[in-house]
Amino acid sequence: MKILTGNSNKHLSQKISKFLKNRLVNSNIRKFADGEIYIEINENIRGNSIFLIQSVSSPANDNLMELLLSIDALKRSSAKNITAVIPYFGYARQDRKVVPRTSISAKLVSNLIAKAGADRVVTVDLHSGQIQGFFDIPVDNLFATPIFARHIKKKLKKNNIICVAPDVGGTARARALGKLLNVDLAIVDKRRPAPGKSEVMNVIGNVKNKTCILVDDIIDSGGTIVNAASELKKRGAKDVHVYVTHGVLSGNAVEKIKKSSIKNLVVTDTIDNSMKVKKAKNIEVLTISNLVGEAIKRISNSTSVSDLFK
Ligand code: R5P
Repeated sequence: MKILTGNSNKHLSQKISKFLKNRLVNSNIRKFADGEIYIEINENIRGNSIFLIQSVSSPANDNLMELLLSIDALKRSSAKNITAVIPYFGYARQDRKVVPRTSISAKLVSNLIAKAGADRVVTVDLHSGQIQGFFDIPVDNLFATPIFARHIKKKLKKNNIICVAPDVGGTARARALGKLLNVDLAIVDKRRPAPGKSEVMNVIGNVKNKTCILVDDIIDSGGTIVNAASELKKRGAKDVHVYVTHGVLSGNAVEKIKKSSIKNLVVTDTIDNSMKVKKAKNIEVLTISNLVGEAIKRISNSTSVSDLFK
């Protein structure tokens, strides 16, 4: 088994490599003067099972192309099999046509990854579980909830906690975390008047005097979470703590969060945002490396991955 990293999140790849006590494959990913990506694997990988780690995070188009070209290079170098480890699966939010004449990017990206030559995909908190069905190869979707639950139990265990989904689509995720913590669930009724804009219509459940744990898969502009947190405070919540797997944190999201009523935002390192969050006192990053590393180990040994979440 060998591990290869793309450029999107080398920090995470290095941590996974350390966990597995397996060094990263020597490779170069460069750009031609016109921006085209060039990949070269500098060691023999013939007959090896390769785990290629690459998030489709910003710059999403470059990182996606890097992922596809790396798979192609591995296939043409006679790797025995190729597992695309995509901690952040970008382009996943367009998973159906919500209005006429739009693309379904999650399906197209799934097709591209399979067509390039991946034999298996490992990812973390897919935006929607059904994206697994867009592939005809195995997909292991890992969950950050156990990592969040451990952190919450350590930091907030004496509080009167309730788990809150920031929109109806996030109900299953919030319920899963609530189950691990043995607490109730509330749901924010969110409306999107336009892409990138969100409005809170209602809150289902009583959050008065409670420590609210808002949980989501993605924080992008921060609008969904900041609006939900402010509504929860208006309704008498004691504190709002936020747990989000993928810290996309575009534009002025970090500033927005710093100024918001959110007591603490916890994200994972599926996206390398170490520079962005460096100076934000109310943002904390937990690493997902041991979870991904353990999943890689189990896949390599043909043992159960789902047992990790029992
Ligand atoms: C939407 O369904 C997702 O789960 C997130 O809530 C959304 O992508 C967050 O985006 P933003 O931070 O821009 O509101």
